[in-house]
Amino acid sequence: MRIKFSCLLLLLFALDVSINVQAAEKKEAPKFYFSNDKRKWNSLQRDEIHDPTCEAINVLQQPYEALSELPYDYTGNNVQWVKALREGFIEPRTNIWPETKIKVLDMDVIMDNTSTLPMVRFPHKEHTEWLDCENCHNHLFIAKVDANPITMYAVLKGEYCGRCHGAVAFPLRECGRCHSVLRATFKGKVGAQPVISGNPEFIAKPRP
Ligand code: HEC
Ligand code: HEC
Ligand code: HEC
Repeated sequence: MRIKFSCLLLLLFALDVSINVQAAEKKEAPKFYFSNDKRKWNSLQRDEIHDPTCEAINVLQQPYEALSELPYDYTGNNVQWVKALREGFIEPRTNIWPETKIKVLDMDVIMDNTSTLPMVRFPHKEHTEWLDCENCHNHLFIAKVDANPITMYAVLKGEYCGRCHGAVAFPLRECGRCHSVLRATFKGKVGAQPVISGNPEFIAKPRP
């Protein structure tokens, strides 16, 4: 009698453990993770990109764990990436092959075909710190001022600047980040801007 009873207990205990394990597996990850400054990021399990049924998902880092340490932005993926780079929060690797030359071009292009909106400032420096000339020239932009029939409609459809902005760089609803130059106060000539340092293109030291 005694033996039977403890067998039953053991069985119950085993059942209980397996039910608990199933419950833990079923427990859904939160949709969002929040940082202390109220930024939020999708959890990998529920971002509708990763496969939540694949066990490998559990070894991946949640985006918020890395991104919440980086400079605040209220839009896009909630990080100001240029600031993160400038202030040394991140140090992305520049090249795989040692012979690759990292060219940074310090030249703004001011575009004035913007109707009543402020003109557009395209900064080469902030782009070539991440990107190679060939990422844009010449399949997205011919490297000549005014050689590209850019319109806002085309950008919104994902062409020109819209290849990246709204996809991997800040979103297109942030009009003022591109349309940032007021006609009333701009004294120079539109197009490529002179560079004060006199050294528009320089070979940057590769970051290991
Ligand atoms: C990623 C940069 C970027 C953002 C963000 C952006 N624009 Fe533009 N926009 C451009 C460029 C580039 C042009 C073309 C300028 C040129 O060719 O001289 C342009 C042109 C325009 C024009 C001129 C007419 C036309 O159809 O081309 C209007 C109006 C305009 N944008 C409105 C907006 C509004 C409103 C927003 C925000 C909802 C916005 N833009 C956000 C880059 C941007
Ligand atoms: C993110 C895209 C992008 C990258 C990367 C880029 N450019 Fe450009 N570049 C542009 C745009 C946009 C223009 C202006 C085109 C226009 O006005 O229609 C331009 C214009 C130019 C011009 C014409 C200037 C003039 O006076 O007519 C030159 C030269 C140029 N780029 C060289 C480079 C070099 C060299 C690199 C790499 C070190 C580079 N660009 C990287 C987008 C880019
Ligand atoms: C090949 C990809 C690519 C294209 C094309 C591109 N950008 Fe960008 N841009 C980026 C990335 C990446 C950043 C840095 C991340 C961010 O700020 O979201 C950036 C940042 C910027 C910034 C912010 C610089 C700062 O100081 O914070 C401006 C302004 C800008 N882009 C304007 C433009 C305009 C205008 C065009 C089109 C004429 C354009 N970009 C085309 C990728 C691109």
